[in-house]
Amino acid sequence: MSWWRRADNPRPVAVAPSLLSADILHLQEEIEAVDAAGADLLHLDIMDGHFVDNLSYGPHVAAAVSAASSLPVDCHLMVDDPATYAPRFVQAGARCVSFHLEVEVDHRALLEEIRRSGARAGLVINPSTALDEKLHRPLLSSCDLFLVMSVHPGYGGQPFDGSVLGKLERLRQWREQDGLDLALEIDGGIDERTAPRAVAAGADILVSGSAFFRQKDYGEMVRRLRGDWSGS
Ligand code: DX5
Ligand code: ZN
Repeated sequence: MSWWRRADNPRPVAVAPSLLSADILHLQEEIEAVDAAGADLLHLDIMDGHFVDNLSYGPHVAAAVSAASSLPVDCHLMVDDPATYAPRFVQAGARCVSFHLEVEVDHRALLEEIRRSGARAGLVINPSTALDEKLHRPLLSSCDLFLVMSVHPGYGGQPFDGSVLGKLERLRQWREQDGLDLALEIDGGIDERTAPRAVAAGADILVSGSAFFRQKDYGEMVRRLRGDWSGS
């Protein structure tokens, strides 16, 4: 059983609601509702106001969210200094910590450090960054997850950029050729319309913020995003 999929998920696609679009004044109820809806992971967006021009939560909030949820917390670090912050989010209970290819850091060393500390480690690529075989493919053996951004990071509610789907296709190919155990995730503008395109290109995990939390019935949304329309 994959770490990123819930045991009772009948499909090969996982859903990770992004708490950025949840009702912040009722976070506990939202977390419980997401869990009851059958989501696989909780996606937590960490923004430092430098790497992206927005601010979100710190380790204190991540620790409270981890403690309140039985779902694994999937922490997406949009920060300039992941070497300082990744260990703090592991400490806060994140099951997976991902950071961006665009930041200046020894990517492999940090991925391995995250793994050694007991969490899963991931890399993230922005829409404007090209996937480079020479530079990026060798890093995949140190990754548990690779996140392809389908919007420029910083805000929820932006339109999906389908031009990034080729990156998922290439990553899927490299994963197969290199025999890697790697989860492919997509983040930005995912809804019932864009999810099938992402899954067809190779996405295993769908992050969904505004489209997910706009729905009244979160359980229905989890099923629809996974491609199961039987309940509708
Ligand atoms: C964007 C974040 C996303 C965001 C997705 O910087 O990484 O996780 O919450 O929101 P939607 O699904 O609304 O694009
Ligand atoms: Zn995110």
